[in-house]
Amino acid sequence: MTTVATRSTPRIAVVYDRLRPEERLLFEAFERLGVAFDQLYAPQLALEFGRTEALARYEVVLERCLSQTRGLALARIFEALGAVVVNRPAVIETCGDKLATNAALMRAGVPTPRTGIAFEEGEVLALCRAFGYPVVMKPVVGSWGRMVSKLSDQDAVEAVLEHKETLGGPQHKVFYLQEYIAKPGRDIRTFVVGQEVIAAIYRTSQHWITNTARGGVAANCPLSDELVEVSLAAAQAVGGGVLAIDLLESDRGLLVNEVNHTMEFRNSVTTTGVDIPARVVRYVAEQLVAV
Ligand SMILES: Nc1ncnc2c1ncn2[C@@H]1O[C@H](COP(=O)(O)OP(=O)(O)O)[C@@H](O)[C@H]1O
Ligand SMILES: [Mg+2]
Repeated sequence: MTTVATRSTPRIAVVYDRLRPEERLLFEAFERLGVAFDQLYAPQLALEFGRTEALARYEVVLERCLSQTRGLALARIFEALGAVVVNRPAVIETCGDKLATNAALMRAGVPTPRTGIAFEEGEVLALCRAFGYPVVMKPVVGSWGRMVSKLSDQDAVEAVLEHKETLGGPQHKVFYLQEYIAKPGRDIRTFVVGQEVIAAIYRTSQHWITNTARGGVAANCPLSDELVEVSLAAAQAVGGGVLAIDLLESDRGLLVNEVNHTMEFRNSVTTTGVDIPARVVRYVAEQLVAV
């Protein structure tokens, strides 16, 4: 186990598995704000149930793993050890699975694109006809726009189904489908910290997939009442915490596409003028006071 103690016995830990620009910015913000914390490098942790006294002293844990599986496992263990984990394991579970996210948003009455699942070709095609072409097909678990497909007609859907059948693993047995939202060449991402929407960006791209990981360009987006209201409702629907909400502009208003539980914000600090890492660190420190 590697711990780099910055003060004597910090009560906050940040657990991570890759030093992305975000983790560096967060560590820097902890230092800048004088909030004592330990860095825990996940791949070097070994946790034995009932014998993890050294880690049980953390009262608040900020979970920043790139690996979702690892992050969820650690969030579960730290919560079991009595820590407040940002974000809570239940939130990670919901956000890490597009179906679980849709279920939570639907229960809370948060607007989303029309979404459905099917298991067999005939039923998939029926759903596609109901939505109207083009349709969007996605893996239930995934990120950075990988394997997100816009399918313009029945031929394209049949081809993807055959590929999934032949090449795909068990996670490709559930076909997740959405109506395509003809958005104005951009998406919106809001950053929610606790009860507040702290900033928003437009992600503009020539491509219909606007992830910044795929070349989408970030620009500041002013916070409208609707944007704030829908974002807070989405955050609350999945259990709250530190979250990035992806929204699509449509002719029936803002629709929530997904909620990200380990938000990336490297392109958004100078773009929005909001010190996102400092806001996250302050929120984490507030959880300590609440303990
Ligand atoms: N139904 C849709 N209509 C229009 N664009 C979409 C739709 N679903 C996804 N997109 C675009 O594709 C991107 C990636 O899809 P997303 O569901 O966020 O998957 P990932 O988890 O891989 O980021 C979104 O950011 C958005 O730009
Ligand atoms: Mg996304």
